Amino acid sequence: MNVLVINGPNLARLDIRDSSIYGNLSYPQLVEYISKAASGLGFTADVRQSDDESTIIGWLHDAADSKTPVIINPAAFTHYSYAIRDAAAMLKGPLIEVHLSNPLSREEFRHTSVISGVATGTIGGFGPHSYVLALMALKDLKA
Ligand code: DQA
Repeated sequence: MNVLVINGPNLARLDIRDSSIYGNLSYPQLVEYISKAASGLGFTADVRQSDDESTIIGWLHDAADSKTPVIINPAAFTHYSYAIRDAAAMLKGPLIEVHLSNPLSREEFRHTSVISGVATGTIGGFGPHSYVLALMALKDLKA
């Protein structure tokens, strides 16, 4: 089964982000990690990244049309993009919000997620393993 994994702004530059928060994997390594974990669980993961809100909204529209399950790390859009929230609300399949870090243990502006309210569930704080936990949850939902 296909799963769309969407990564939001600045995640393609994990190589230069704060490794004490986001870990030591580069973005290409993260993609490989997610893809391998997905295929081990019987999924084909289409892993994408964009810094652009409208691109992410277009991907969500397509996933709504095709009823594809979505795992999304909306990155900073988590905290203020009502447009991504509205697009996510149109999805027919499960939506799992993931974060590498635990936003609730960080700055106050990160304590708000405008996405969580339309997500099936949220997983954060486990580094790249957050995505694996999301895939496991998705597998369980589909079983
Ligand atoms: C993040 C947390 C967000 O607050 C931040 O803006 C990001 C990454 C995470 O994966 O921990 O860019 O979504």
